[in-house]
Amino acid sequence: MNVSVGLALQPDHAFLDLCAGLLREQVDYFEVAPETTWRSASPGADFEPNRFHCEFLALGQATGLPFVAHGVGISIGTSPRDPARDQRWLTRLIADQSQFQYLWYTDHLGTSVVEGSELALPLPLPYNEAACQATRTGLEIMQHAVPTVGFENSAFYFHPGDPLEEARWISHVLDHGSAHLLLDLHNVHTMATNAGFDPRAYVDSLPLERVIEMHVSGGSCSDARWLRSGRVLRLDSHDHPVPEPVWDLAAHCRPRCANLRGITLERVGGTIEQGDVPLLGEELRRAARLAGGGRGA
Ligand SMILES: [Fe+2]
Repeated sequence: MNVSVGLALQPDHAFLDLCAGLLREQVDYFEVAPETTWRSASPGADFEPNRFHCEFLALGQATGLPFVAHGVGISIGTSPRDPARDQRWLTRLIADQSQFQYLWYTDHLGTSVVEGSELALPLPLPYNEAACQATRTGLEIMQHAVPTVGFENSAFYFHPGDPLEEARWISHVLDHGSAHLLLDLHNVHTMATNAGFDPRAYVDSLPLERVIEMHVSGGSCSDARWLRSGRVLRLDSHDHPVPEPVWDLAAHCRPRCANLRGITLERVGGTIEQGDVPLLGEELRRAARLAGGGRGA
């Protein structure tokens, strides 16, 4: 299967200007967080397109390249679900799908709404049957908008059990149905570094044949003043180049991911300057070599 290379689009004009050449010449698809292209007039009101909705679509039309969606807020594992909240997401996503024609749609494993309160980052789920069923339900809801769906292994900073058990639980969630896994290797690296486990043991417990997309990115370390102990944690902050352990993990996983369709480089806006663009280009070329193709190889 042909494996493509993508870059995550950021709702940031400076980022888009700096990456304009890369976006035209070195990627095969664009990844969009749909929520970054929306706004709502007030909390709970319907979502409407913002300026990036139009600008991302224009980029797709100018380049002829497709989109994939990587959401941040549908809260895939929440239980019980809020039908009105789900409908807000679905109404906008169904409208978006008619324009962006997302090849697939993933969101983060976890819950990002708790008793009506929206969280900035998802919380981990217990590795039990109820959370498994909740996650499967979340995936079915996403399929009302985009037929091909999946979830990303998140980067959590605490765990409801042995983190290696999470990988086995993810396998169980995917035992049933047609959903895919977005394998984020920096998330695995971050958790392995902080919790002290072997990242290969984690990925080897995942159903790698269900991986549709891989994420590579970098991060930084927390400020020692954040914790009373002075302990420093690795952060999944997407603000630095992809570190070698992540590339090593990608090389380990790549031949085991028989149904992989895309490798996406993630880097947040506001963390690059002109001098960083050649390095981003080299990272995209490296991803293309790993993919075994891609325009930038
Ligand atoms: Fe990711």
